[in-house]
Amino acid sequence: MPTSAEPVNTTVWDTKTQQFHGGQDWKFLNNFVEDFSVTTNLLGTPAKALQAARDAITTCHHYPPANQEPAKSSLAEWIWPRGWEMHRDRLLLGNGASELIDLVIRSSPGGTWKAGPWDVQYKEYQRSAETNGRDILCPKGDDKANVVCIVNPCNPTGDYKSVEELKTWILENVQDNGVVVIDESMQIWLGPHFREDSMTAQTEFLEQTYRQRNISIYVIHSWTKIWSCTGLRLGSIVCPTVDHCVALKRIQVPWSVNGPALAFMDEVVRDKQYLEDTWRLTPIYRAQLIERLKGLSAQKAQHNQPWEYFGKPYLSWVWADLKSEAVAERAVALAKQAGVPVRSGKPGYDRPTFVRIAVREPKQTDVLINAWKDL
Ligand SMILES: Cc1ncc(COP(=O)(O)O)c(C=O)c1O
Repeated sequence: MPTSAEPVNTTVWDTKTQQFHGGQDWKFLNNFVEDFSVTTNLLGTPAKALQAARDAITTCHHYPPANQEPAKSSLAEWIWPRGWEMHRDRLLLGNGASELIDLVIRSSPGGTWKAGPWDVQYKEYQRSAETNGRDILCPKGDDKANVVCIVNPCNPTGDYKSVEELKTWILENVQDNGVVVIDESMQIWLGPHFREDSMTAQTEFLEQTYRQRNISIYVIHSWTKIWSCTGLRLGSIVCPTVDHCVALKRIQVPWSVNGPALAFMDEVVRDKQYLEDTWRLTPIYRAQLIERLKGLSAQKAQHNQPWEYFGKPYLSWVWADLKSEAVAERAVALAKQAGVPVRSGKPGYDRPTFVRIAVREPKQTDVLINAWKDL
């Protein structure tokens, strides 16, 4: 048996076939404290919504509603507090954003795929593009692709483009007749004004770009991060027109969102306090995390370059460049050993000197900082 400090084998990925993600180590750590390897909300799962999902388990001998209601309307009302009835039929829920990512890439006309405008971003889009036989273009090259996926804010780099910057970028960088998928999973962290800077609010722009240039713009959300329910699987997609939504629904597996997940969604959108606490606490704890990392880095600075930190101050993680592959590897190993796993920048992202560290409560962050004292 491993001792409490020794992690057992955590290789759960079929690395030749599947895309690596964080969030898998916790189950294998006998001394597990907190998961710093995923970008979920530091507040944990909202209590009332969790209870609603628990209650819904008692009806698991029935099929979930085929129209995803009333959860879909509740989410529509949350996304578009005014006029949601006009938009609801462009919204589709999925078994995590991952299902919808694959659905929209699979349904797009064949050709090229490009990530942009960041040089590294969440990899599931590329995985789906590759398995669907698309030619992958270099993110920094000048070639225009017919399918472009933009993760905004970008996981893992923490870069962000305002909606006006994004509109300009799309008009300048996407081919006519193209498809654009914008992932706004992390955009909710922006603050109480997040809706005003969201592409979901740009109905006129979406309609016009489709009419004038035949560019189809979709907006995807993973709800498993902001509402910390990665095991429940909840995502959604806003389509440019109702017809686009019908086309996705046609190839979607029926009942892909289960009863407890729908019940969770229907309840969680009512929890205003949870989001207010999120917007208040995340930037404070994030700034404290960076200060503490700077403290660690300063101890070693006589011999090494200081570490560097990336990402907007309101986000739920820090993308940190430890400036040395060996140090980053050791940081990942020490964190895991202490029961506080972080996400290495190496698998998938190919940034071996980087680690991605989730923002967590100070007490849990203490454990991580302590584990890195002797880096
Ligand atoms: C930016 C982004 N989009 C989508 C996903 C997929 O999320 P899920 O399938 O859990 O909803 C993730 C998960 O890490 C993510 O970071």
